[in-house]
Amino acid sequence: MTKNLRMIDLFAGCGGMTVGFAGEGFRSVLAVEWDKAAAATYAANFGEKHVIAGDIASVPDEAIPETDIIIGGPPCQGFSNLGLKDIKDPRNQLWREFMRFVEHSRPKVFVIENVDRFAKSPEFAMLLAEADHGALAEYELQHAVLNAADYGVAQRRKRTIVIGSRIGRIDLPAPTHAKDAGENSDLLPWRTVKDVIGTLPPHPESTDLPNSRFAFFGEEMPGVFRGLDLHIRRTPTSKSLDRYSFVPPGGGRFDLPDELLPNCWARKPTGTTDVMGRLRWDMPSVTIRTEFFKPEKGQYLHPQWEAGEWVEAYGKHRSDPVRSVDRVISHYEASLIQDFPADYRWVGTKIQIARQIGNAVPSGLARAIARQIKPHLVSQAVERAERELAFA
Ligand SMILES: C[S@@+](CC[C@H](N)C(=O)[O-])C[C@H]1O[C@@H](n2cnc3c(N)ncnc32)[C@H](O)[C@@H]1O
Repeated sequence: MTKNLRMIDLFAGCGGMTVGFAGEGFRSVLAVEWDKAAAATYAANFGEKHVIAGDIASVPDEAIPETDIIIGGPPCQGFSNLGLKDIKDPRNQLWREFMRFVEHSRPKVFVIENVDRFAKSPEFAMLLAEADHGALAEYELQHAVLNAADYGVAQRRKRTIVIGSRIGRIDLPAPTHAKDAGENSDLLPWRTVKDVIGTLPPHPESTDLPNSRFAFFGEEMPGVFRGLDLHIRRTPTSKSLDRYSFVPPGGGRFDLPDELLPNCWARKPTGTTDVMGRLRWDMPSVTIRTEFFKPEKGQYLHPQWEAGEWVEAYGKHRSDPVRSVDRVISHYEASLIQDFPADYRWVGTKIQIARQIGNAVPSGLARAIARQIKPHLVSQAVERAERELAFA
């Protein structure tokens, strides 16, 4: 019965959300994504025929099929209290598009994912107004901020999830994992960085993706890459390497000796604590963003670090070069922390693939949502089948 659960994925990216829903038996019948490389990654994993690699606004009403569920995260423009409450405001275009799909497809359920502050945005106020007396009046909305780590993903990533249902209230899924899940807890302990990247080769050989190309949507693109193809390293300067060596697991720019601080940070003694940070083996990672390959953007240094030489002039240990891994995480490691399957196929340049990875919804979180919604849709489908049989 679940094989018949049809879904549309809007703003589909490279397919993180679809991975989770497909894992619960949902079948994507339409995906819309305007970034060609991201759409190609989606197509490489789920088939090209049902993917529209274009602007959502260019999809005609007639091309919108009936489905059980629409999933997607329309980008959110801003968080000021001013403006945007007007549905006709041109900046609300993407939200209007999402609602146009809901009106034409009439799914039983829709799911919106967005940034954690989403509930404070004018777009959210607009969504509530539409559910109250507008285009979404049939739907009952539930929403909450969920942390992917609480659903078995080795990453602390908070997202607002909205479930809209016209087949009765559907609550957000309860956590399955917890930071302090003791022996008597029903919950499992948070999964850690070690659980997902602990066995990979510590020193990737290549600095580049393999030299291959494949045609999607009539256009040749770099790819298709999978697995260790993405396990690539960078070539940092000796100054950068020097900096990395002083950052222990869980540490960041405040561990750098003053002499090694870049000027911009030296002038800014507070704030942005996790830049030039190092992951910890025994914890879920911080949020993987689109520029995870730049250590200056967050806590993205490889977690393997053991204290080595004591540097008297700085009053600090630098890393032991043999027992430490002084590099940023590879694309492959980032994709696993983002909960993509180990053999997921990827299309695009290094920067495009990093953007796809960083933008995605971790599949474990999406799957928990799918698992919560599925019984509601299946019972509806069973009732419908029984009705049809009775009339046959
Ligand atoms: C947060 S990402 C989606 C992530 C995706 N749900 C996943 O789990 O992998 C939002 C996506 O919306 C796409 N997008 C933005 N504006 C669009 C438009 N007008 N038409 C189609 N796609 C659009 C962006 O290219 C981006 O990939």
